[in-house]
Amino acid sequence: MTIPPDLYGRRSRDRFVLAASALFTGVQKLRSLRPPALPPVRPVDRSMRLTVTSVVPVAEDVVALTLAAPDDRVLPAWQPGCHLDLHLPSGRRRQYSLCGDPSDRRTYRIAVRRLPDGGGGSLEIHNAISEGDTLKVQGPRNAFPFISRDRYLFIAGGIGITPILPMVKAAHKAAADWHLIYTGRSRATLPFLDDLAGLPESRITIRTDDEHGVPDCADLLTRATPGTAVHVCGPAPMIDGIRAAFPPAATLHYERFAPAPVTDGKPFEVELASSGRVLQIPPARSALDVIKEEKPDVAYSCRQGFCGTCKTRVLSGEVDQRAPSDPPGDDTMLICVSRATQGRLTLDL
Ligand code: FES
Repeated sequence: MTIPPDLYGRRSRDRFVLAASALFTGVQKLRSLRPPALPPVRPVDRSMRLTVTSVVPVAEDVVALTLAAPDDRVLPAWQPGCHLDLHLPSGRRRQYSLCGDPSDRRTYRIAVRRLPDGGGGSLEIHNAISEGDTLKVQGPRNAFPFISRDRYLFIAGGIGITPILPMVKAAHKAAADWHLIYTGRSRATLPFLDDLAGLPESRITIRTDDEHGVPDCADLLTRATPGTAVHVCGPAPMIDGIRAAFPPAATLHYERFAPAPVTDGKPFEVELASSGRVLQIPPARSALDVIKEEKPDVAYSCRQGFCGTCKTRVLSGEVDQRAPSDPPGDDTMLICVSRATQGRLTLDL
């Protein structure tokens, strides 16, 4: 900093001006010292290869798989509500909730119901995976957080018990006030009834269609008093019914097995850049559903806009972003839920 001369051309000797000048010069020098260049940030690969150590039937059409590291090392920690991404030998990628004991750091347990009309992942696990096989696994990740409260109502439909079971055990361990309603077609279809046997019977309602008829969602919610955290996992019609009947003073946390129906969908076109093929997406279907018919190997998993597996680059067109994780202005879209605002999207597929 150069000190300007006074009216008579003399350099100022004012102590304040001199101090300010020294301070300014020091700051300039500090700013000129550049920090050392940091190494580039590389994405962390969180995948592991785990061995299937057991495959056990736990209900009609349901098997439980136990997975462990080949060298029996400690596995990454997880909390109730977490899931694993399994990469199947066919290239399919599927997510399954962890349903074992989070304090057991050497094994993971998942359960899979056979779905003959699903996307083929459950059939592959039932028909082609056996003890001793190795699978690539990613996670654990949590898309269904267990909310800490004093009072809980848990509602599980069939295989929906998988994320709920560790939550129930955690609530019991924390001496919380909890109740579980477990629904399904019949007792034979309900996995993990044995695991529940050690918990107080008075806190568990088993409600099967063959004994009690199809449940009314308002009835399932009679225990959802103000302040109760309600955690639900089950088939889409059950989740939708519970959402519609839900009392305002309780808090609802839910996980679906299947995507919600498309609402307010308008038809649009998708052009696949690799082939130039143009596909028509009707109002009630997702782009992923239609693209799958053309490209059966397209990557997807949850079909609900939260796992990110189906994220695809958009080369042209305007996207109606419908997934919470899709930032507006990004040049990608989750093709399982997001759509075009109108006209045509060209996708890097
Ligand atoms: S498949 Fe999970 S976000 Fe689309």
